[in-house]
Amino acid sequence: MTSDSIHGMWSSRLMFILAASGSAVGLGNIWRFPYVAGENGGGAFVIIYLICIFLIGIPIMVSEIVIGRFARKSPINAMATAASKSNASRKWQLVGWMGVVAGFMILSFYAVIAGWVLSYVFQLGSGVFVGISGESAEQIFKGFVGNVWEVLAWFTIFLAITVVISARGVSAGLEVAVKYLMPILFFLLVVLVIYAAVTSGHFLEGVNFLFSFNFEKLTWNSVLEAMGQAFFTLSLGMGAIMAYGAYMPKDASVIGTATMIALMDTGVALMSGLVIFPLVFANSLESSAGPGLMFITLPLAFGQMVGGQIFGCVFFVLVAFAAVTSAISLIEPAIAWLIEKLKTSRRVAALIVGVCVWLLGLGSVFSTNIWSDLFIFDEMTFLDSMDYVTNNIILPLGGIFIAIFAGWVLSSMILDSEMTLDGWFYPVWKFLARFIAPAAVAIVFFMALLQV
Ligand code: TRP
Repeated sequence: MTSDSIHGMWSSRLMFILAASGSAVGLGNIWRFPYVAGENGGGAFVIIYLICIFLIGIPIMVSEIVIGRFARKSPINAMATAASKSNASRKWQLVGWMGVVAGFMILSFYAVIAGWVLSYVFQLGSGVFVGISGESAEQIFKGFVGNVWEVLAWFTIFLAITVVISARGVSAGLEVAVKYLMPILFFLLVVLVIYAAVTSGHFLEGVNFLFSFNFEKLTWNSVLEAMGQAFFTLSLGMGAIMAYGAYMPKDASVIGTATMIALMDTGVALMSGLVIFPLVFANSLESSAGPGLMFITLPLAFGQMVGGQIFGCVFFVLVAFAAVTSAISLIEPAIAWLIEKLKTSRRVAALIVGVCVWLLGLGSVFSTNIWSDLFIFDEMTFLDSMDYVTNNIILPLGGIFIAIFAGWVLSSMILDSEMTLDGWFYPVWKFLARFIAPAAVAIVFFMALLQV
């Protein structure tokens, strides 16, 4: 039964943890979490987000790993195989298809933001932010994203890096990179938290903003946003973790592993908030500034720090690496499926996927310049719309199906054999996957719809 995947295998449980955390920790933690929390009023939003991580996120992550590890195939074929081995309809593979589409949509805007990060590596390195005011930092950001050619160039570079790494296979190069980069990123974040705590003079205000229980401001729409953020940050609902699970060794407990990944990811997100919000308040910036938040506050802070020019440059390099290790997980389901389907090489598959993502990404490239007046849904640019639809609708929907599939459809023989190392967590997971996670997602959807 314990065959290997044709796409390769992680060399150990630790490597799976690193790869999956590499997928989870990314722009979602450092860029998206602070600004979405800011737009939704902080405190109560963060509490809901944390509840979603534990009650919905971890059970769904476990479901994805179990399905992937059992079938050892791309998510589309993994769903089909797991279904037919459980005497269920192969139509379940539609969930895999939905995931592949979601992956394209997410990477198409993710790579644009990651391109902004790349450009900031050089902008910080050049010293333009040294000693600058909050207002000028905002001007520089707007000037940059307003320039279509620059944004296009950085987006293309980032996507090319992603495709090249994916083409070479995920295990050797990537495993090594993640092993060193994640700890450095963590360390720099701690230094930045301390910096914010000591120098901003507004640290408690930041803490208060992130953790105060003010439920009055909370709408069902912000609950939906919190849930979407939980899916996004853990890379759930589209098969990324399922694809990685397919390369995971059998001798590791699924629930313990998933919990570790979730805790690490949550730690990074909260730390980013504790860096950004004290700086926002100290410089009288808007906490609800939206996607530009990180690109304005962090350069501002670095500009005032001793050695901030180098330090800031290094920090953005690490954010870029975190983005790369996430981006490769976004296209892995599509690449693995193409390899299985066309019996083609990884290189060809990666190239095909890359070109498709690039074309779709043009919409997001244009969103901050030539198409900045084009709104798809109310007030939302192309980029915002891609982000909204994937995170708040497609990922949670995919998550419901995955949880229901693992909890109700997957044969208990398969489940038992995958979960032998999980002890009494196994029934707890089963309860959460069967009842709590699907019901919670459904309720949030329904209430958010009613409200609009
Ligand atoms: N989790 C990553 C982040 O926070 C983004 C990501 C990678 C992702 N793979 C995913 C999001 C799959 C949703 C689904 O930056």
